[in-house]
Amino acid sequence: MQDAGPLLEMLRSICGDSAVLTGADMAGYASDWRDMFHGKPLCVLRPANTAEVAKSVVACVGAGVGIVPQGGNTGLAGGATPDDSGRQVVISLDRMTAIRRIDSIGMTVELEAGVILQTAKEAAAAENRLLPISLAAEGSARIGGLIATNAGGVDVLRYGMTRGLVLGLEVVLPDGQVLHRLRHLRKDNAGYDLKQLFIGSEGSLGIITAAVLRLVPLPRHRTTALISVPDIAAAVRLYARAQDDIGEALSAFELISGDGLALVATHMGQEAPVKGADWYLLIEAGSSLPGLRTAMETLMEAAFEEGWATDGVLAESEAQADGLWSLRESLTEAEGKAGGAIKHDLSVPIPEIADFLQETGKMLRSMVPEARLNIFGHLGDGNLHYNVMNVAKADSARVNTAVHDMVARYNGSISAEHGLGQYRTAEWARLATPPEHDLTHRIKRALDPMGVMNPGKVVPLHD
Ligand code: FAD
Ligand code: MLT
Ligand code: ZN
Repeated sequence: MQDAGPLLEMLRSICGDSAVLTGADMAGYASDWRDMFHGKPLCVLRPANTAEVAKSVVACVGAGVGIVPQGGNTGLAGGATPDDSGRQVVISLDRMTAIRRIDSIGMTVELEAGVILQTAKEAAAAENRLLPISLAAEGSARIGGLIATNAGGVDVLRYGMTRGLVLGLEVVLPDGQVLHRLRHLRKDNAGYDLKQLFIGSEGSLGIITAAVLRLVPLPRHRTTALISVPDIAAAVRLYARAQDDIGEALSAFELISGDGLALVATHMGQEAPVKGADWYLLIEAGSSLPGLRTAMETLMEAAFEEGWATDGVLAESEAQADGLWSLRESLTEAEGKAGGAIKHDLSVPIPEIADFLQETGKMLRSMVPEARLNIFGHLGDGNLHYNVMNVAKADSARVNTAVHDMVARYNGSISAEHGLGQYRTAEWARLATPPEHDLTHRIKRALDPMGVMNPGKVVPLHD
């Protein structure tokens, strides 16, 4: 930008001098946490309230610069990283951290977009309520980012994606208007459900400043098991049996590969307390009613009898359950320490997972024999993190394309939960149908005609 001075001055007058970061102070906001995406923002703005966000948006639009909303910056698709043009302003919500109200009877929480998930969960738990979003980044991810990505995680099986928890939203629109719909209502069919446009839109249609989320009763009991399984077909059969035996109390059914746990052992120093296998399942159930442990024991007995399990451990204490989860939650960090991966966040129909893995593995072995796989994910949602390691940079695009083509053949999704950001937008554009392109561009143009909101994210710039 030729002269950023007047805009910076205006933003300082709106938000205060200390809320406008430039130079080296922007470092933590200019790249993603994995250090894969790097940008050069014009400045980073840290407004304190919705009015400041709205005025800042108007100022940025007036100056013709792009706006990149940012929460905890834990996203895995580069959605919160600006480009390197020096013509984009990062608006971080990290100062808007008020939990305004918890209604333990109506089971709702109203909170600002910058509240960290773990903080919100702790506040809900103090009222004997659960905010049912669980992911390894919950100590850093913020409510606005979770809603903007429609985050998934390990509890989706029971509680659904973030979208299903959002009862009300406050959003600053690209023209500076504020859509204020912070209703604590479970039922509201008065017209179009406008908030849905912003959930999962990754900051491309507006800036979420506050939300009302649904809570559920905090389960008093949980039971957690780690099971070694011989193959994927056995894992899928065990999943069906778990649905029969544990029913709605089943909250997590996570798949981890033997290679993944080996990475955790090597790079994080954590060993699994079960015999080695090609695949492992981490299964959890939670309820306020007793009897869960018996149900899990029955499931495990059936698994051994049917030959679906070769070893297993049922956590005897909360600490042991946390230890089992730590293995699962360390996979991403271990993968990073081992040199990173071409990440795929795919979903395919659950009964077809075994065929998908076999066919894709065979294809990759013939394409890049030296590639190594770190496969894990939310088997109960049909969502696999199919991460391909040890691939030369020159081969990474064709590996990515080949995996996505296979996903398309299985009628799956190339982004089950992480979103498109800047990482997957071109692949979405390659695979989407003409009506999907058309509708996506019409929605973007209708809400953001100037194209100022997170340019190039989700909606391709040139299509
Ligand atoms: P950011 O990274 O800051 O932003 C993400 C996107 O949302 C960007 O496009 C940004 O522009 C937009 N955005 C942020 N705030 C706002 C706002 N207030 N208004 C409008 N747009 C906004 N994700 C899962 O779904 N499931 C998982 O299991 C999971 N596990 C993870 C584990 C680890 C170790 C890590 C590092 C990440 C994981 N993630 C997972 C990804 C990430 O945590 C989620 O995508 C999360 O929702 C991002 O929240 P955030 O506040 O960090 O958002
Ligand atoms: C997970 O399930 O742990 C996450 O989505 C993180 C990842 O894919 O690396
Ligand atoms: Zn995940």
